[in-house]
Amino acid sequence: MQDYINDIDGVRGRKIVLGVSGGIAAYKAAELVRALKHLGADVHVALTEGGARFVSALTFQALSGNRVWTDLWDGKGDAGMAHIALGRGADAILVAPATADTLARLAQGRADDLLTTLCLARDCPLLVAPAMNRQMWEHPATQRNLATLAGDGVLVLGPATGEQACGEVGPGRMLEPEELADAMLAFFTPKLLAGRKVVLTAGPTFEAIDPVRGVTNPSSGKMGYALAAACARAGSAVALVSGPVALPTPAGVRRVDVASALQMRDEVLAALPDADVFIAVAAVADYRPATTSPHKIKKTGETMTVELVANPDILAEVAARPDAPFCVGFAAESQNLDDYAEGKRQAKRLPMLVGNLLADGLGGDDNTVVIYDAEGRHPLPRAPKGFVARQIVEHLARLLPQA
Ligand code: PMT
Repeated sequence: MQDYINDIDGVRGRKIVLGVSGGIAAYKAAELVRALKHLGADVHVALTEGGARFVSALTFQALSGNRVWTDLWDGKGDAGMAHIALGRGADAILVAPATADTLARLAQGRADDLLTTLCLARDCPLLVAPAMNRQMWEHPATQRNLATLAGDGVLVLGPATGEQACGEVGPGRMLEPEELADAMLAFFTPKLLAGRKVVLTAGPTFEAIDPVRGVTNPSSGKMGYALAAACARAGSAVALVSGPVALPTPAGVRRVDVASALQMRDEVLAALPDADVFIAVAAVADYRPATTSPHKIKKTGETMTVELVANPDILAEVAARPDAPFCVGFAAESQNLDDYAEGKRQAKRLPMLVGNLLADGLGGDDNTVVIYDAEGRHPLPRAPKGFVARQIVEHLARLLPQA
């Protein structure tokens, strides 16, 4: 998981019981333990007999820092009841990998080993990450079992489609450990934006002078991507219009790549219908070259002059629409943050704007921001961008008119 979207508070301190059943994807469960621990979770592994054939209990013990449970008849649990001891105080049980057989036994409510007994006796949510061969996944019996589990309130994560250990290609691959950790983070995040649609811009724009040169800036996209991820975890549909950056698309986010401010404007306007919120995080170039040469410009002398013309202000245009969504602006300044940021908020008639000093927010993984709204200024402590993003979402959700 990328640190910039590392919103650790959602999972920190949670007791997550990880059930590992017997499939080749069990080796990925070791990495999953690490990813969940990285988010601050307290991970306890219940390993089935089949799972232990792929990865040893010792591996999970070393990675989780907790003893690993394998036996329903383990006398060290509460009054000799391992399933009670393990399930007590659990915030969630995640079975990953969940084999076809495990899904079938969970759907039937069987309780003939530690993992199934634990799942039957639980009083916390159950999530499963199926992992199996394509034909097993597509078999009507497996699909029936999944429908039963979904009907029982079990959350199914994945599977992915791709190359399988058996050499076939198709659906049935377990989600990658980082995707599963991200799904757990989303699971524990309050759905403050449920039913909403959010459009965001992020990253720099690139204004071409010729095929190899252009005007741009060092925005990494990290702040915008962190916000897109936070909005998706908070339950909204998210369209992210992104300038050129080297970042993976956050889970649950629809991403449209653009280069120039003009392209960004077109894609924002296309994504806007039905949007409840527009968040402009991008560092949009205020000016672009008046003309773009189709061929590489040759060096002709000691100086070169490029005429620049103003780009449209996307945020100002969206905020001025009669059907404007709730608009959140950003402002990066090198000095006088309060004056300039609040000035921009008022000039563009925005209900909310997030200000940051360039030295604090541009490029790095952390940021120090101040939120400005009609009530005044609200400084947030310096934190990873993922954490800052979650607080911005909380503030936004408080100001957002009821749907
Ligand atoms: O990408 P990172 O490395 O994580 O860095 C994050 C950031 C510093 C880029 C981000 O936190 C930030 O502050 N973004 C706004 C950059 C800025 O200074 O914008 P501005 O002052 O030029 O514009 C003000 C607002 O209008 C911004 O919301 C901007 O997206 C929007 N705008 C500006 C010009 C334009 N033509 N169209 C716009 O929509």
